[in-house]
Amino acid sequence: MAGERRRRGGDGPRERPRERDPKHRQQQKQQQQPRGPGRGRTVLVASAAAAALALGLVAAATEWSRWSEASRLVTPHPAPPAVPPGSTGPLASPTYFWGTYRPHVYFGMKTRSPRSVVTGLMWLQHGGGLRHTCDSGDGPARYGWVMHDGENFGVQEIRDGRLLLRTEFVKQPGGDHGGDWSWRVTARTEGKGPAPLLSLFFYVATDGQGELRPVLHNGTRLAAVEGTSEELGNFTLTFLPPTGEGEEEPKYASYNFLAAGVPGLHRLTELVQRSLREASLFSPPGRPRRHYLGVSRTGGLPGEPPQGQLLLHQVTLEAPAVLEAVLESGSAAGARRGRLAGRALGTALARHAAAFERRFEDTFGLGARGATPPQRRFAQAALSELLGGLGFFHGRSLLRSERRSEPLPGPEAVLFTAAPSRSCFPRGFLWDEGFHLLLLGRWAPALARDVLAHWLDLMNADGWIPREQILGDEARARVPPEFVLQHSETANPPTLLLALERLLPDAPLPYLRRLSPRLRAWFSWLNRTQAGPEPLTFRWRGRDTDAERFLNPKTLASGLDDYPRASHPSEQERHLDLRCWMALGARVLAALAERLGEPPEPYGDMALALSDNALLERHHWAPELGAFADFGNHSTAVALRWHRPAPVPGQAPPAPRLHREVREAPRPRFVGALGYVSLFPLLLQLLRADSPRLPALLGAMRSEAKLWTPFGLRSLARDSPWYLQRNTEHDPPYWRGSVWVNMNFLALRALHGYAHAAGPHREQAARLYRELRHNLVTNMFRQHEATGFLWEQYRDSDGAGQGCHPFAGWSALVVLAMAEDY
Ligand SMILES: *[C@@H]1O[C@H](CO)[C@@H](O)[C@H](O)[C@H]1NC(C)=O
Ligand SMILES: *[C@@H]1O[C@H](CO)[C@@H](O)[C@H](O)[C@H]1NC(C)=O
Ligand SMILES: *[C@@H]1O[C@H](CO)[C@@H](O)[C@H](O)[C@H]1NC(C)=O
Ligand SMILES: *[C@@H]1O[C@H](CO)[C@@H](O)[C@H](O)[C@H]1NC(C)=O
Repeated sequence: MAGERRRRGGDGPRERPRERDPKHRQQQKQQQQPRGPGRGRTVLVASAAAAALALGLVAAATEWSRWSEASRLVTPHPAPPAVPPGSTGPLASPTYFWGTYRPHVYFGMKTRSPRSVVTGLMWLQHGGGLRHTCDSGDGPARYGWVMHDGENFGVQEIRDGRLLLRTEFVKQPGGDHGGDWSWRVTARTEGKGPAPLLSLFFYVATDGQGELRPVLHNGTRLAAVEGTSEELGNFTLTFLPPTGEGEEEPKYASYNFLAAGVPGLHRLTELVQRSLREASLFSPPGRPRRHYLGVSRTGGLPGEPPQGQLLLHQVTLEAPAVLEAVLESGSAAGARRGRLAGRALGTALARHAAAFERRFEDTFGLGARGATPPQRRFAQAALSELLGGLGFFHGRSLLRSERRSEPLPGPEAVLFTAAPSRSCFPRGFLWDEGFHLLLLGRWAPALARDVLAHWLDLMNADGWIPREQILGDEARARVPPEFVLQHSETANPPTLLLALERLLPDAPLPYLRRLSPRLRAWFSWLNRTQAGPEPLTFRWRGRDTDAERFLNPKTLASGLDDYPRASHPSEQERHLDLRCWMALGARVLAALAERLGEPPEPYGDMALALSDNALLERHHWAPELGAFADFGNHSTAVALRWHRPAPVPGQAPPAPRLHREVREAPRPRFVGALGYVSLFPLLLQLLRADSPRLPALLGAMRSEAKLWTPFGLRSLARDSPWYLQRNTEHDPPYWRGSVWVNMNFLALRALHGYAHAAGPHREQAARLYRELRHNLVTNMFRQHEATGFLWEQYRDSDGAGQGCHPFAGWSALVVLAMAEDY
């Protein structure tokens, strides 16, 4: 797991998707199941009718049901779209049209349109590697947005060896095509001694539509790109000559340019890399001449049909230097008062920075709470990285139902979403997004509503939303092929409803009316497909089935991958976390119905039934554990043992493998794991403030042998048999001890709630709340100061950041904890 996560490489797939499916299982199913046609709905209906005549009624009915299921799998939900057609375009939504919606590159912009023209930056310190897409391996030591307002302005700082790069952008409204924008890239070198030559590559590329024309000066310097595309109309991107810092005179530089066909945006790095030749000369007047790698004028990847065009401007110079690029929209000419470059750009940047600071303080009030300037900068960076991680994606998911062997491409979809991590997970994840929206909803409620609506439009006819959205070539290029498939029985926690609960009071009614049928369909899908063995119990589908390979078969759907569950997956399982999510969902849908003036049934009834603490105890209180727990077919004596397969004569001895040994037969019982899942009735505040069970949960949280650490709550008790245990040879522990920020945020939110509710445990909750908040915030701040990143998880023994970085997805919730805004 982490072995793969830490794998290094070029542009190709290098990270492990957070939630994944064993290959194994797929193959088994492929053998068992017949193949079906892989076409769209109308064709299916026609061929089904033909089949009915030919095969007789019984066979036809079976086939029909399979086809009809396949067709529903890839058919969008029939409700009117939650994102009205045209509403994301430049006329309806100019503010959000252009953006840094390419979170996987260090610096780049595109528009919210399916086949957008894209712009971006690469750089090369001669002697080092070409930088383009975000890397959590041997790339820059630090990078991240330090300010980003999610709309018009952003400032990013990058530290790559001795090179410091600052990338800034400002947008300026005008015209009918999303207006203008300007970039400023400032390069500096730290330390003494000669610095390597630096090349900066500014590019524009098309992706299937639009046209670009180079404007060359003296045959080598790409002074501008003129272009036309459907959404942008006519535009010009001008590359201004570089200057020294604080100077207006041009600085000596050498230029190269490249015009090439692009076989897909995911191949850009490779294309540029391959066109570099050690043939260019840097010869500043009166100084020694140096050869450097320059792009050759024309290039391309041989044998690959182009899908688009690339125009690239290479500037080679010695830092310090300031480079600017200005995009001017043809239709904004009338509104423009002058070019946004040089001094005018400096003024605009300063004005936006001041406005950002003000808005940040108005929104979160950290200054008023006594946060120090470094703490405020940390919180600003956390929010900015989340906003700078917003992406716009277009493409098709690869879907698969339980009853078919062949995966089917889903319908063409677009998604506007934040991303968990710009390096490891630059795409949409369903349950992460609900957490992202808690913070986005505070900063820019309209933006959060838009993102939520986009997610609901991914729903199919059954009401299912695939949990990982790998849309388009660029997204797919970063995921190993066997992990691309989305399985139609697999759910994910409905955290979008957590976000909706907060957005509900201020959301416009027409918006909520558009969302309502889709939310109902989604909830009903969950209620139907993830039902448990008894009424009002629930079970995650899609657990690992080949149990002997794992210490504990994973439950990817829950989002908590390897968190220990019943040792032997069965239909008798009752999953506590899912039950609590369903209770939350029913409550939010009832509130939505009330807001819309509709009857709250059946959600109100269901919420009431699920909030019955006596029923909760009957299904999930484990007296022997003194905590809430899952129930299932479970053995308490399971271990991984090295096992050497019997040697085959004449062959090399086989390598030993880890195999699971079950030394006590499983039986139906509570699962003796104490950790995040046990806390769910508290985390989602289902437990009444006067519950006699509350002290046990508060005690487990505060106990250092269990969940308490000086850095936040660990995911699994230190005295648990699974604590920090590997799941297989290749799977180090993930949710088995580390401190995760999303769950700590829920804990803070709940403790804050219990501290403010009348009840016998109020004081204890308040004390825990203060200590936990202090521990979590202090450690995350300290780690950020030391490393420059927010992290995917924090080690419970010393608080060190672990796993993916930057990870300003749900880890950015630290801002709300600092603001005590729950
Ligand atoms: C083009 O080259 C000429 C002569 O080599 C030079 O005088 C002029 O400044 C150059 N123009 C640009 C825009 O670089
Ligand atoms: C773009 O410019 C061309 C030529 O300059 C002009 O003919 C065309 O009408 C313009 N298109 C738009 C959409 O403004
Ligand atoms: C959930 O499913 C149960 C059992 O089928 C049903 O009784 C209940 O009404 C459903 N809840 C909602 C909100 O649809
Ligand atoms: C529990 O799992 C074991 C091993 O798979 C199986 O033999 C047994 O029937 C299961 N028990 C129940 C009650 O499902």
